[in-house]
Amino acid sequence: MAEQIHESLAREIAQTGVAMLTGSVDTGKTTLGLLAARMALAEGRTVAYVDADVGNTTIGPPACVGLRVLDDLDDLDRISEPDQLHFVGTINPTRLVLQQVVATAAMTDRARMMADLVIIDTTAVVSGVAGETLKYHKAELCRPDMVVALQRGGEMEPVVGMLRRFLDVAVSVAPSDPNVMPVSPDERAARRTEAFKKALIPPLERWKVRPTVFAPTLPVGLNLSRLDNVLVGVQDPGGGCLGLGLLIHDDDGLRVMTNVGEGMRGLRLGSMRLDPETYETTLLSLREVMFGV
Ligand SMILES: Nc1ncnc2c1ncn2[C@@H]1O[C@H](COP(=O)(O)OP(=O)(O)OP(=O)(O)O)[C@@H](O)[C@H]1O
Ligand SMILES: [Mg+2]
Repeated sequence: MAEQIHESLAREIAQTGVAMLTGSVDTGKTTLGLLAARMALAEGRTVAYVDADVGNTTIGPPACVGLRVLDDLDDLDRISEPDQLHFVGTINPTRLVLQQVVATAAMTDRARMMADLVIIDTTAVVSGVAGETLKYHKAELCRPDMVVALQRGGEMEPVVGMLRRFLDVAVSVAPSDPNVMPVSPDERAARRTEAFKKALIPPLERWKVRPTVFAPTLPVGLNLSRLDNVLVGVQDPGGGCLGLGLLIHDDDGLRVMTNVGEGMRGLRLGSMRLDPETYETTLLSLREVMFGV
């Protein structure tokens, strides 16, 4: 039953212009998105897949929104390799709603120019003030032709009601597939570790960095050791992200370790630290790092 619903939903998505997929954790968003992409490609349409799920990533490294343009079915095998990235700086978007929304909207704008169909896969944060704010402003800026809401019970109703009332968006609500296998927290963490490893492959280049290259700007007199192990986005001059970097502070001063230093224009500070040995993550507040509050 649910499988048939998803099959027809995927067909509907495959024929639209911009579709945004929403739903809580393990509701089958990505599976549905990839099925729709496959159907559209089989019909000769080009697809731009925007992966806004910064914690549980399909395209490119975590903490970034990734974009992949798919021209034919074979491209689906290489979907993890991004064409473009936009840095968000966290794996938990509830702390950085602005950055998350802007990154998704910027990528969607680019994607519209690159393909017939744009599929936006979003994070599982769908409830509470942060979840509702996220989905509302994402829909407001991305202007999807349809939003798909997958739910187990009625958990998507507040978001769905809001999108219909305030933005006049067409929302298709469907039950999540009962066959979906939940991914355990351990498995999720392990996948994320792997994804960070892949984004920061040894041997990493070590570039000396001046304190003036950061966004946001460092306060005068900041003890630079406070930036040790902070994740950064290595930025190109067009607002795009070349890939991830990790700040290291030692006797030589401040350096960024990265695989993508060529063409680096500046560094965007993320809101997390990453252990360079274990790739374990801890969230941080930039205000606290910079001003101690
Ligand atoms: N119809 C199905 N039958 C069996 N397994 C499925 C089905 N659909 C999805 N799965 C499996 O269930 C898991 C979760 O599905 P999926 O990744 O699509 O969900 P998601 O909503 O994108 O999750 P997340 O919130 O983690 O991004 C995956 O391991 C997927 O392979
Ligand atoms: Mg997913």
